[in-house]
Amino acid sequence: MAEPLPDPLQQPDYPNRASLEAVVRELEGRPPLVTSWEVDRLRGLLAEAAAGRRFLLQGGDCAERFDECRAEIITNRLKVLLQMSLVLIHGLRLPVIRVGRFAGQYAKPRSADREVVGGREMASYRGDIINSPAADPATREPDPQRMLQAYGNSALTLNFVRALVDGGFADLHHPENWDVGFVHHEGLREEYQAIVDAIVGALQFMGTVSNTSLGDVERVDFYTSHEALLLPYEEALTRDVLKGGRFNLSTHFPWIGLRTSEPGGAHVAYAASIENPIGIKVGPDTEPSTLKRLLNALDPDHEPGRITLITRFGEDRVADSLPRLIAAVQSTGRSLLWSSDPMHGNTEVTADGLKTRRFGGILHELEQVFEIHDRYDSVLGGIHLELTGENVTECVGGSAGLTESDLQRAYRSHVDPRLNAEQALEMAFSVVRNRRQ
Ligand code: PEP
Ligand code: CO
Repeated sequence: MAEPLPDPLQQPDYPNRASLEAVVRELEGRPPLVTSWEVDRLRGLLAEAAAGRRFLLQGGDCAERFDECRAEIITNRLKVLLQMSLVLIHGLRLPVIRVGRFAGQYAKPRSADREVVGGREMASYRGDIINSPAADPATREPDPQRMLQAYGNSALTLNFVRALVDGGFADLHHPENWDVGFVHHEGLREEYQAIVDAIVGALQFMGTVSNTSLGDVERVDFYTSHEALLLPYEEALTRDVLKGGRFNLSTHFPWIGLRTSEPGGAHVAYAASIENPIGIKVGPDTEPSTLKRLLNALDPDHEPGRITLITRFGEDRVADSLPRLIAAVQSTGRSLLWSSDPMHGNTEVTADGLKTRRFGGILHELEQVFEIHDRYDSVLGGIHLELTGENVTECVGGSAGLTESDLQRAYRSHVDPRLNAEQALEMAFSVVRNRRQ
């Protein structure tokens, strides 16, 4: 008989079970947010990235906020992802798979269940799908009704993203969407403009000589992803698809976070039961033997596109950790997609108590990841970033030279610090420089 599963980690303690059950029933009856054929298509694209024929760009907020489900914020985030993808397509000479951390990135793992704020003890903020970040013990209580709002806001976000894309948002004939007015650094702006000009020129040339278009450059798809953390929500939106198997249809690409990735745990068991491509965060403490058990549990048949390993070590630990994980994967004979999250291992707290990340530290991890994959005959096929299209001041460094004293000015995250639009675009250029070597 199979061992019973342990209680899932990182779940809220809902005071009202009846209300939780009613919400789950309600969600089970709601329409899915994505379709299984979109999920299958993404899986095929990720398999190509694993083979080095595409590059994955995955990015967005650490945690989406209900009150930021606004046209301007969604558009700006989409814009910066598009602009980064243009830099990557041009520089890497590869088609780019664009995946947002959006339309469902509402649940956060926390290191402590409770905290003291302003002298009062309360539940920790676990993301808008669970409770409110306000420093008030009452609204910090987990409320299952928030799942319905998360579902609704995900649907609104996705509907708007789909409409923008279908309406030609990313079409190169809409230069306003390619405009990088937010970039203050002249060199960066010029480098970017040269790429746009080159691509527009190439498209015109193709159109003139052959009356055809450049398929992948002109056609823009966005896929969605989020951490599959809150299991009642994920399960309620998991559906059996006629002939196709079981799919999580709340998102195309769920990932398992570092804190919930133990091979015998409930999150891994859930992910093993669905057909979606699965991201797995791995860190400096992930043992090669644990990684192999995880891969066996989630991908027993070595299926192309099934697994993306998202590595997040920290600039000081990557050199030590990554080679043994690459060796572990190679010993299983698998070809899977390696992506680098150079952010989550590089978080610091300033003297003022603000969480930040240094642009230079993020870059330093990324440079080492490229070099190590090269050295071990492996391929880095993607990047995973926390970013926003807004002009926030949460990470220090970058060409605008943000320092710790700038952080107070526009620090908006309630969880991890994000790259602002200019820093994000600069990171795309850095990927190109490193991969080209
Ligand atoms: C995250 O991606 O926001 C996150 C919590 O990451 P990790 O699980 O890698 O710590
Ligand atoms: Co984060």
